[in-house]
Amino acid sequence: MASNICAELSAGVTTSSAEQTRSLADRLAGELPPDCVLALHGDLGVGKTTFVQGLARGLGIQDPVTSPTFNLYTLHSGPGGRLLHLDAYRLEGANQVEALMLEDFLISPWVAAIEWPERIADWLPHGTWHLDLSIAAEGEHRISLRGSA
Ligand SMILES: Nc1ncnc2c1ncn2[C@@H]1O[C@H](COP(=O)(O)OP(=O)(O)O)[C@@H](O)[C@H]1O
Ligand SMILES: [Mg+2]
Repeated sequence: MASNICAELSAGVTTSSAEQTRSLADRLAGELPPDCVLALHGDLGVGKTTFVQGLARGLGIQDPVTSPTFNLYTLHSGPGGRLLHLDAYRLEGANQVEALMLEDFLISPWVAAIEWPERIADWLPHGTWHLDLSIAAEGEHRISLRGSA
């Protein structure tokens, strides 16, 4: 049942392929409240971008989702809403996010998926969903949703 996804993620899920990670994110996309910020924590290669590919699929977005490292962010829209995919690696703080003037794009309902969210911790709104990603073993990636603060 779709609503179990939050409970599953809170307990922590281990996926054994990129496709399983996408599929989890696809399911989560259908359960998120409108206008939700998702902070994707974890080092290079843990599957943050892969997770965002699944979110895009869940929102019915057809565009390919790739690492936004060279563009800072990408914007997508689909029948399920808009998706902002932001790589905050090169940003420092709320001022630099605000300078991007993303609000013009963020017409409800939207999801903002943030890689390297700790760089812009002071921008993340109250109610941000924090997900921790890590590699448990070769091809086995762990994803868990933090309890609400
Ligand atoms: N279980 C898994 N979940 C997510 N990605 C996986 C998994 N197993 C292998 N991979 C691979 O790990 C890599 C994760 O890369 P990426 O999503 O770009 O990570 P990040 O954005 O965190 O740097 C991809 O090449 C993906 O195919
Ligand atoms: Mg990435």
